[in-house]
Amino acid sequence: MSTESRFTLDDRLPEDYFTTTLHADVRHGLSSRPRTLPPKWFYDKRGSDLFEQITRLPEYYPTRAEQEILTRRAAEIAALTRPATLIELGSGSSRKTRLLLDAFTAGGTLRRYAPLDVSAAALEEAGHAICRDYPGLRVAATVADFETGLALSDEPGPRLLAFLGSTIGNFDAEQRRAFYRTLSRSLTSDDVLLLGADLVKDPATLVRAYDDSAGVTAEFNKNVLHVLNRELGADFDPDRFDHVALWNAEHERIEMHLRSRTAQTAKIPDLDLSVDFDPDELLRTEISCKFRRESLTSELHDGGFTVRHWWTDPADRFALLLAVPN
Ligand code: AVJ
Repeated sequence: MSTESRFTLDDRLPEDYFTTTLHADVRHGLSSRPRTLPPKWFYDKRGSDLFEQITRLPEYYPTRAEQEILTRRAAEIAALTRPATLIELGSGSSRKTRLLLDAFTAGGTLRRYAPLDVSAAALEEAGHAICRDYPGLRVAATVADFETGLALSDEPGPRLLAFLGSTIGNFDAEQRRAFYRTLSRSLTSDDVLLLGADLVKDPATLVRAYDDSAGVTAEFNKNVLHVLNRELGADFDPDRFDHVALWNAEHERIEMHLRSRTAQTAKIPDLDLSVDFDPDELLRTEISCKFRRESLTSELHDGGFTVRHWWTDPADRFALLLAVPN
């Protein structure tokens, strides 16, 4: 079958979704204190390119650690789960997915790959490439925001739902609870969850991973200001903010902030909003929670999942787990 006839793209986002949610997020996050912005607004074209660069930095170990586990365990995961459909949340460039696709197609069970992402462009690009490289596979891509709605329709089962890269770390405890519940309710007893989670480790290693010596993460962090300038007509001067990565020991998470170098005011005409910053005031742009086996297993259990397998890389930096609805 031709590439085109094996690829479908279903756009489930309302026409004005991008603008409406950006406006609401920015108004809500910048008109109260502490000032915050959700990390999803990092990822325009430039932000996605910068993130790709981050994954190759010597200090940023999570991508390589997860890849090591996937390389070592993909055949075992295929034998344990024998999926007909691989659903992937936040698939992005689908690079790591290929390790799973190779194992699942070799296992002979996989018929369909169903990536779900907010970026139609990323899905188009990755989806076509995968169609080309896996001739027997149908690719059914969905443009959706898995924070607001999970539309896992009529995919053939058993389905393996992969949520990799420790993107789960962007959610706080309450958001994770809601996410597990929604997810466990939309899966059947045949389906499994494959979750990648970065682990608690010494703070110096963690901070270095989010404050690299080449300054790529700093650029990535400041990119959200470029996004606001372009999309909302704002006048943020990224040079008047410093990149800050810190370890929050109480919540066991890395936080990224932008610290205002001076007292300054940013205008956001499209929102009729003007934001005053004190000298050294922090704007929090991301949380990246780190996990421990016992507490992650227990919060998954409360959210409707039983952890069946737990694998780590040889250096115990990162975990990949397989869980079933309970
Ligand atoms: C894509 C959310 C998993 O938290 O490590 C990398 C994003 N931010 N460097 C992470 C990120 C700064 C990344 N996640």
